[in-house]
Amino acid sequence: MEFSAVLRSRRSIRAFSDRPVQKDTINDILLDAIESPSSSNTQPYKVAVADGDTCKQLGQELLSRYYKINKIQRLPLPLKLFSAATSQAMPDGDYKPILGKYPGIFQNRRMATGKGLYDTLGIARGDKQARDEAMARNFTFFDAPVAIFVFIHPSMKFTALVDSGIMMQSLMLSATDRGLGTCPQGALGMWRSPLEKYFDIPKGYKLVCGLALGYPKEDDKVNLYRPEKLSLDELIIVKK
Ligand SMILES: Cc1cc2nc3c(=O)[nH]c(=O)nc-3n(C[C@H](O)[C@H](O)[C@H](O)COP(=O)(O)O)c2cc1C
Repeated sequence: MEFSAVLRSRRSIRAFSDRPVQKDTINDILLDAIESPSSSNTQPYKVAVADGDTCKQLGQELLSRYYKINKIQRLPLPLKLFSAATSQAMPDGDYKPILGKYPGIFQNRRMATGKGLYDTLGIARGDKQARDEAMARNFTFFDAPVAIFVFIHPSMKFTALVDSGIMMQSLMLSATDRGLGTCPQGALGMWRSPLEKYFDIPKGYKLVCGLALGYPKEDDKVNLYRPEKLSLDELIIVKK
């Protein structure tokens, strides 16, 4: 593909076909991602690649945790606290998500994006169950046959976050160029312990984000969603 066509056609994919991704293809994509720039070439990231049975089993474990905490959230307060303490399903990720409202204009953008996605899926605003089910699909990676988990070394502070973001974008563009789809997933940072069971995560590395990888399901309307991007005017800070 022409490079700008790759850039412009990449969109988050939230329905994958069951077509497997060959190991060589995964490796080629990762080799492209490795070419990314990083601060002083520190490359303070590592990835854990879950495919085959590992992907399926991990997905089921994450999904079961999601259902557990979802149920706990609906309990009356004293029971909620007790269940939270005993459930072993409470999020144990390395970076806590922003809970509640996002600050300022970011909340408006978040809401607009969520609404656009639910409209595409035909989910009504008040249909909590359908929204929860849509959210649940994150944990089985939207049926993708591969899930990639990105870890950073926190000793590199904010540069590790910048570097890992650039690396993830390289990975996603390389995948797009090969006809594959991706969805970066902050939701996959909620639990770290299920990953410990499958991967020997080097000491000190922190889970920052996950990413679903696979061939897009052709006839699924969710993949047609095109959220609005900034205009040039909104992006550029005006000169004095
Ligand atoms: C760091 C990060 C975390 C994200 N987490 C999720 C997620 O947990 N679930 C999800 O469905 N999409 C997630 N996304 C995808 C965004 O919603 C998506 O990138 C945004 O709406 C713009 O759409 P586009 O990727 O199709 O351009 C995430 C994206 C980024 C960059």
